[in-house]
Amino acid sequence: MTDTAKITLGDKTVDSPVLSGTVGPDVVDIRKFYAQTGAFTYDPGFTSTASCESKLTYIDGDEGVLLHRGYAIGDLAEHSSFMEVCYLLLNGELPTADELKTFDYTITRHTMLHEQLATFYRGFRRDAHPMAIMCGVVGALSAFYHDSTDIQDPHQRMIASHRLIAKMPTIAAMAYKYSVGQPFIYPDNKLSYTGNFLRMTFGVPAEEYEVVPAVERALDRIFILHADHEQNASTSTVRLAGSSGANPFACIAAGIACLWGPAHGGANEAALNMLREIGRPERIPEYIARAKDKDDPFRLMGFGHRVYKNYDPRATVMQKTVREVFDALKVNDPVFEVALQLEEMALNDDYFVEKKLFPNVDFYSGVILSAIGFPTTMFTALFALARTVGWVAQWNEMISDPAQKIGRPRQLYTGPAHRPYVPVSQR
Ligand code: ACO
Repeated sequence: MTDTAKITLGDKTVDSPVLSGTVGPDVVDIRKFYAQTGAFTYDPGFTSTASCESKLTYIDGDEGVLLHRGYAIGDLAEHSSFMEVCYLLLNGELPTADELKTFDYTITRHTMLHEQLATFYRGFRRDAHPMAIMCGVVGALSAFYHDSTDIQDPHQRMIASHRLIAKMPTIAAMAYKYSVGQPFIYPDNKLSYTGNFLRMTFGVPAEEYEVVPAVERALDRIFILHADHEQNASTSTVRLAGSSGANPFACIAAGIACLWGPAHGGANEAALNMLREIGRPERIPEYIARAKDKDDPFRLMGFGHRVYKNYDPRATVMQKTVREVFDALKVNDPVFEVALQLEEMALNDDYFVEKKLFPNVDFYSGVILSAIGFPTTMFTALFALARTVGWVAQWNEMISDPAQKIGRPRQLYTGPAHRPYVPVSQR
């Protein structure tokens, strides 16, 4: 690859530097393009545009590769805890045993919420969607933790990051408790990050809550699989919000709002609903036929991905995890059999093979979360909980980047050109 790209526009030729990353496609630096040509580039949906430089996460969609700080997601899911992955994303290296102990201690000591926030919850309707509550409560954290909103101070940035990672399970569990009318459960410092979340969600003051180790491990793994995913829509939203200097709590609230959309965080719920609708393996061919029918808008939910055109490495881990959870909880839900057979039939069908459609992370995650006992409305809230570390790591990286500027895209304007104003009496 040459280190300069020549772009010719009319009689002007612009030399644009070509930048190479560690791995992955080269990038043409067009920052001076407008100054040199007076033209903008056009790329709705950012399909060909790198919006930033990042050292956090790398995806090769053709090869089915997902790396965090260089480590394969399969290795992290197999050998690490979510806390280790959080440390890795925030600090760049896997922690030593001592570093992990200190980090775990720090996060554990930030899990409680300001007591007045409990009152804040009571302002919501009982049937409020947990994501609506999370947008509100996370945004409101900036009203409670003033001592960590100076974004120019790296120490305050780190405290805000720890607070967000630590408090998110408490906030999500309280959103759930509020919706079912049960009392809020305070965190228990003896438990792990994920064990604590399970207890705060499913425990009640009237009895002891026993964390089932296989469920704790499965959920921890689900958190690892969702921890970061490069410059996706919600992460880009967090970066864009943060580029104006907004405080971290406001930025993460913006990320949660973006994640809520069905094209982003809502797909596992849709996949589970589809599997339940199919109901039994005999009906699978009917649904495969519908997915292939051009005149039918139906799609196999949990299949296909904008980036992964080989397989989604997270789906492989998920499939294994479903079995572990079902065995541990002695669940005998026909939905798993439907999922397994649907996957097998689709992977052997020419339509899905030719279009490179494979199960994505959402295909199995809804099945697992439902077996654990989460209602579907909590699925996206769990995604937000897990993705918080990715959001804060990306936000920190952006603030510390000397090339950082306020995000301000251009546009192709197609509205009316300047026209004379007509007073209301003459319209
Ligand atoms: N079932 C049937 N056909 C499909 C499916 C599917 N799930 N996904 C894509 N196709 C077909 C399309 O009809 C299209 O066919 P055509 O070329 O004949 O028109 C072709 O495959 C390409 O599809 P696009 O929508 O152009 O691919 P894109 O990369 O834009 O979309 C997406 C990716 C949105 C994920 C898509 O595969 C989809 O809708 N999947 C189902 C929803 C889903 O599972 N989303 C979760 C994504 S993972 C996440 O967000 C964490």
